[in-house]
Amino acid sequence: MALLETTHRDFANVSKIIGRHGKGQQELVPILQEVQAEYRYLPEEILSHISTAMGIPPATVYGVATFYAQFSLEPKGKYVIRVCDGTACHVRHSMPIYEAIRKKTGLRGKRITSADGLFTVETVACVGACGLAPVITINDEVYAQMTPEAAEMIIDALMNREVNPVETH
Ligand code: FES
Repeated sequence: MALLETTHRDFANVSKIIGRHGKGQQELVPILQEVQAEYRYLPEEILSHISTAMGIPPATVYGVATFYAQFSLEPKGKYVIRVCDGTACHVRHSMPIYEAIRKKTGLRGKRITSADGLFTVETVACVGACGLAPVITINDEVYAQMTPEAAEMIIDALMNREVNPVETH
């Protein structure tokens, strides 16, 4: 099955990453960083594989993966939207923007990635553009002086782009 083939291929890649770093426990964070850079998140079966391959208890690997905010155990969407909630953005009403984006992308409860896999919505501390507050980033591109309405329009444009791929003239 395709899933099994993918998993075997992933394990081979992960084994190569572990091979480059070695199996010392101090290498766990750099290994997880490299694995996440490759797959955009840390799949559960790969965490198990890392545990076995490095001889580190699964609870330790899982604990490290969940402790650091930089790691994600959930697949990220094609568009990763980060709403800045640092002080400058917060006082300029970043939270209504965040709520509008979650609603627009159909996110409920603890979900941060939309069911269609298009959008991941997160908050982030200051992104260093306080003079442009409130800001959001989409795949690391900064959008300045946001409002809930402007954010909804941007998401509409991204949704349209997915339905009607960019025309070439
Ligand atoms: S607080 Fe949002 S960019 Fe600094």
